[in-house]
Order: sequence, then structure tokens, then C-alpha cells
Amino acid sequence: LFYTIPFYFILLFFLFKIKSIKGFIYTCGGTLKGRNGTIESPGFPYGYPNGANCTWVIVAEEGNRIQIIFQSFAVEEEYDFLSLYDGHPHPANFRTRLTGFQIPAPVTSTGSVFSLRLTSDFAVSAHGFKIYYEELQSSSCGNPGVPPKGILYGTRFNVGDKIRYSCVTGYVLDGHPQLTCVTNTGNTAVWDFPVPICRAEDTCGDTLRGSSGIISSPNFPSEYYNSADCTWTILADPGDTISIIFTDFQTEEKYDYLEVEGSEPPTIWLSGMNVPSPIVSNKNWLRLHFVTDSNHRYRGFSSHYQGKPPF
Ligand SMILES: *[C@@H]1O[C@H](CO)[C@@H](O)[C@H](O)[C@H]1NC(C)=O
Ligand SMILES: *[C@@H]1O[C@H](CO)[C@@H](O)[C@H](O)[C@H]1NC(C)=O
Repeated sequence: LFYTIPFYFILLFFLFKIKSIKGFIYTCGGTLKGRNGTIESPGFPYGYPNGANCTWVIVAEEGNRIQIIFQSFAVEEEYDFLSLYDGHPHPANFRTRLTGFQIPAPVTSTGSVFSLRLTSDFAVSAHGFKIYYEELQSSSCGNPGVPPKGILYGTRFNVGDKIRYSCVTGYVLDGHPQLTCVTNTGNTAVWDFPVPICRAEDTCGDTLRGSSGIISSPNFPSEYYNSADCTWTILADPGDTISIIFTDFQTEEKYDYLEVEGSEPPTIWLSGMNVPSPIVSNKNWLRLHFVTDSNHRYRGFSSHYQGKPPF
């Protein structure tokens, strides 16, 4: 007994110690005001700490919006995340979770508050990120950014300004090459079309215009091929919306998927054997991104889209 009591104390001490190390949280962040500025992850560019939970809240003048432009981004893929909130950092305002090593496109808030939260796990870090933020007045659309392999012509982003995109050699432009900054019905400056993407010449996909049509996976109704990466952009006139109805849907659950962008929620992931419900865009475009992994093939999907003028 004489020897076991201290032993238990030592054991308890270590259990407590391990628990407190595992539960260590590094907090940082803060509230930022001012027309513009930059945010860097702690330790940038030498790596952010493990166990980080840092929240930045950017507050603009009432009536203005906030645009963030990524200047650098490297976050341990699928373990550490930068979450974006369109407003204060409440679950209801959650927009997207960014991870990995590609510089994300600029993001604009709908109101005068925008929040970012970095959360990291307990191992492995990366350079982190550097973000430039700027208040946008209601007459500014903000810099829409440059897609990978794209080139942007134009430096003015206010109502009435036009910008143009092209792609580097070997890539084709999907979408509308010219964007105009217009005022929407809510009296806010918005780009009339989404930023186009640059798709490698030998990949599948298309830009579709017109009031209706069919989009199906490669080879449909036969099996699609492995390692596919197709993007279709459906464009309607500004003010119109687009609906898409699926007539067939069979993909390898979780591994082969169709991602639909341009509706609410902003990104919908479809995978598996159930025919999804129809999707209606909340803008004048929808983008479909079909990705398959290197094994197992199914019939894929077929869908019918239709543009709808506003009523
Ligand atoms: C904010 O904007 C001003 C005026 O455009 C510019 O001079 C300044 O460098 C910007 N600040 C940052 C942090 O980029
Ligand atoms: C990070 O901190 C916020 C606010 O303190 C909290 O609500 C949230 O649950 C924390 N997240 C994680 C992953 O610990």
C-alpha cells in the first residue's frame, strides 16, 4: 500500500496532464473595423498553431458590404478549416468551409458583417492564409477574382464597368466571357454573370444557353468513365432563374458525385442511387460539376433544365 498510493497519484497526474494537453485551445482573432485591411493567420507564413480556434469579425459601415480577397492560402487539407460566415459567426450564417492549398475566389458578404473562423486539429500545420478585406459601397461590385488558368482584363469594378476573361492556351472558357457591374432590384451592385471557369481542352462539359435542354453524364445511358471531371455552366438572361429536373441518377455513393452551384444552399452535393429533387437557381446561372474516382462505374445522371423569366 505504501508504494501504490503514490503510484496512483502519479497516474492521475499524468491522466490529467494528457487530457489538458489534448484539450489545449489556442484562441486568437478579434473584431476589425475600417475601410480595408489584412488578416493573417497566427504565425503566417511559418505555420499556425495546432488546436487553434480563431474568429475574426469584420464590421463595415451600415449599408456597405465586405469583400475578402485571398492573397495566400495553405491549410492542412480536410483537418484544418477556415469557415466563412455571412454575418456574425452563428451556425445560421455559415456559408462554406475552406481547406487545402488552392487560393479561393473572393467572397462578398450580403450585409455589413462578415466573419472567419480558423480551426486546426492537434497535429500538422501549414503556412496559413493572408486575406485582404475591403468595404464595398452599394455602387461597387468588387473584384470578382481570376479563376485558375484564367486572365482578367479590367481593373474597375463599379456600376457600369465591364470586365473580360480569357483562358491560357490549352484551356477553354466555360461561362460568359464578359461581366458587367449592374444594379439589381435590391439596389445593390452585382455582376450580371458568374465568373467563367477555364476547363482543360480535353475534359468534358459545356456552356449552355437558351431556354431548355438536356445534360447527362458522359456515355449516358451507358456507364460513365472513371476519373471524369466535367463542368457544365447553364446561363440565362439576367433576372431569370433556371430549374433542373433529374430523370435518372446512379453514381457510386460518396466517391462519384455531382456538385450543383448557384442555388440555395450555394453548393449541393448529389451522390448515390436516388433521383434528386428538382433544383431551382437563385440567380441567372447554375453550374454542374461531375467528378468520378478511379474505380466503379454506373449509369450516371440525366437531367432536363429550363430557364424561367421572372413573374
Ligand atoms: C487601404 O486602402 C488605401 C487606399 O486605397 C491604401 O493606400 C492602403 O494601402 C490599403 N490598406 C491595406 C492594408 O491594403
Ligand atoms: C471555437 O470558439 C467558438 C466561440 O468561442 C465556439 O463557439 C466554438 O464551438 C469553438 N469551436 C471549436 C471547434 O472548438
